[in-house]
Amino acid sequence: MSFNTINYELSASSLSAMNLELSAGQFFKKLAWYPPAETKIPLRAILSALLSKSSNFEKTLCIYLKVEKCVLGNSGRSLLSSLLEILKQRDNDERNEVLIPGYTCYSVAASVARAGLKIRTYDLDPLSLEPDLDSVTQAAGEETLAIIIQHLFGIPTPVNRIQEIGKDVGAYLIEDAAQALGGTMNGRPLGTAADFGFYSFGRGKPLPLGGGGAMVGKDLDTLSNLRRVGDGKGYVQLSSTLITPFMSLPFCYWIPEMLPLGLGETIFDPNFNVSGMPLVMQNLAENTIASLDDLNLHRRRVAGIYNETFDDDFIFLVPDDASPIYTRFPAKASTGTIPKDLKRLGVRRMYPKAIPDVDTIKPYLADPQSNTPGALEIARNLITLPTHMGITENLAKEIAHKVKVG
Ligand SMILES: Cc1ncc(COP(=O)(O)O)c(C=O)c1O
Repeated sequence: MSFNTINYELSASSLSAMNLELSAGQFFKKLAWYPPAETKIPLRAILSALLSKSSNFEKTLCIYLKVEKCVLGNSGRSLLSSLLEILKQRDNDERNEVLIPGYTCYSVAASVARAGLKIRTYDLDPLSLEPDLDSVTQAAGEETLAIIIQHLFGIPTPVNRIQEIGKDVGAYLIEDAAQALGGTMNGRPLGTAADFGFYSFGRGKPLPLGGGGAMVGKDLDTLSNLRRVGDGKGYVQLSSTLITPFMSLPFCYWIPEMLPLGLGETIFDPNFNVSGMPLVMQNLAENTIASLDDLNLHRRRVAGIYNETFDDDFIFLVPDDASPIYTRFPAKASTGTIPKDLKRLGVRRMYPKAIPDVDTIKPYLADPQSNTPGALEIARNLITLPTHMGITENLAKEIAHKVKVG
């Protein structure tokens, strides 16, 4: 055997190995389903959460948010509905409406309904997702107990103007920071500027534990009244937290997507459980909050790639002095279903309808004839691109390119 032959044989085998690798890579790429959001919790954090007998999470969160006090609950919606009930009682049941954005998570509407209050919607600017101030002014009145503003996708909404409208009518202002833990506006943590603010630790949220929530506020007595004992040991919540990371792997995500689990579906259900945050979930939060800033940094980097790729009329404006999180990256697309190849890359719509158009919510509306055209436009056009840790720089570029070309 001559040298040449050996060389030839070597390069032939390495070539075929390379081909094999390439085709295996392409094969796996074809199989991959990227989730729109991801939960990655180290096993170490889960084991140590199971072993701890007490938790410091409330204190740690207060320090993180630079607030004096916070209260934990089994979800953001449970804390919001309990808060609304307390405010309603304090007001002797005189004001019976809560203003919410026309485009928001249906569990916000469910919290208002569960508290026995009527939902009134205000419109949003379809260019920025911010409240339409004229619409808020029109909707607010002597029936308004509270106004809820939101930082959807962790993109800050300025609070001041709505705060003034709230003051004029004597309504409380509540910040829905469910998707915004770690974001800031003028250097101030989102959720801490209004009378009250709440956070969620559910799936797809900034700290995605799979359950839990927190409330902060200026009225410390009211916060104390929100404190609830955890319902059970929290092992059910924890087991879903354990399963989700595996199910979120690109080669497994098609399984829950195909099953009729309603994954990622938003439903309106006012019959949710109200209780405290189980100790094991508090410990899990305590063990993982140190990674929150890194998670948010990654989300911002991926969002930066999307921002660079798209023209201005495709993206939502972000206020000056805002530091958004981008739990997902929202973009304006045309109506219609998202093609399968984009779905596989984690591109999704968010809430399918504006609040006034959801049939199950209609009986709870203060004004069933109300319409919110901006919110309707957002519901029709908005798509979200994934920003989680599973999205590398190259993948983000590929997603952005595919979305751009349609
Ligand atoms: C914008 C918004 N508000 C409120 C909530 C309610 O939070 P939770 O799921 O913890 O009840 C969610 C999440 O579902 C949300 O996305």
